[in-house]
Amino acid sequence: MAHKVQVARSIAALDRALARVRRSGKVALVPTMGALHKGHLALVRHARRRAEKVIVSIFVNPAQFGPQEDLASYPRTFARDVAELAKLEVDLIWAPGVEVMYPPGFATRIAPEGAALAGLEDRFRPHFFAGVATVVAKLFIQCRPDFAIFGEKDYQQLQVVTRVAQDLDLRVKVVGMPTIRESDGLALSSRNVYLTPEERQAAPALFRVLTACAGRISSGGPIPEIVAGGGREIAQAGFTLDYLEARHAETLMPVESTQDGPIRLLVAARIGKTRLIDNIAV
Ligand code: PAJ
Repeated sequence: MAHKVQVARSIAALDRALARVRRSGKVALVPTMGALHKGHLALVRHARRRAEKVIVSIFVNPAQFGPQEDLASYPRTFARDVAELAKLEVDLIWAPGVEVMYPPGFATRIAPEGAALAGLEDRFRPHFFAGVATVVAKLFIQCRPDFAIFGEKDYQQLQVVTRVAQDLDLRVKVVGMPTIRESDGLALSSRNVYLTPEERQAAPALFRVLTACAGRISSGGPIPEIVAGGGREIAQAGFTLDYLEARHAETLMPVESTQDGPIRLLVAARIGKTRLIDNIAV
């Protein structure tokens, strides 16, 4: 018989379900905003390997969207998500409504610093990391997992939530997993459904340029020139560039050469109505 996965929608239902889930073994949580794709499912599979029990949260978090952003149009595919998670034998889906996560009178926010102020995503989405940090801290406190699995696709986010878990003594080990890509290199993203066929064809330019720039940097080329050239190539492919930057892989501080430590190349660019981000190790 097909596995039936339990869905909790209130704190009381979550607590009842957790009493069962937490009875034996370690618990891994995979936080998502739904519209699940193979990248999310890879995180869930890893969670399965890492822990006896797996919780997936599905919550489109209004607090991390700016007023001009795509909260209203963000893809919502809940029934399909539940079916995919049932196939992977997930133990519990935590799917609170906005009124459960942010009840009337809600007035507390976590304001992360450090990597959250690196001048990358935060420069273009100033509200974003406070929204992410607040909801992720709440998810950790609500579910009390031993592990939480995040994708390197959102690299700055991964650094921020790692720090939040440590700084607030949340007793969760944050685990980062590699980015899952289409065969032409485009990183899987829930937002890829916004792309027109022409934009979809242009989109692999991001990964192509990241790969070329990483190769040039690791052969010892000058970072400012390489990154500037990469930015021009991305613009030629039809994107408006938000940033293309080489940063220290852990602190996300600017780097001048490979002498400065492990380097991560990070990009964000807009094509049509869609904003895409990607990153790779040098
Ligand atoms: P969402 O964009 O749904 O992503 C959920 C998780 O899936 C994140 O950890 C993200 O990095 C990971 N992910 C997305 N695309 C991936 C890919 N191609 N390969 C591997 N992992 C990928 O990120 C969020 O939601 C939210 O900010 C959240 C953390 C849930 C807080 O609201």
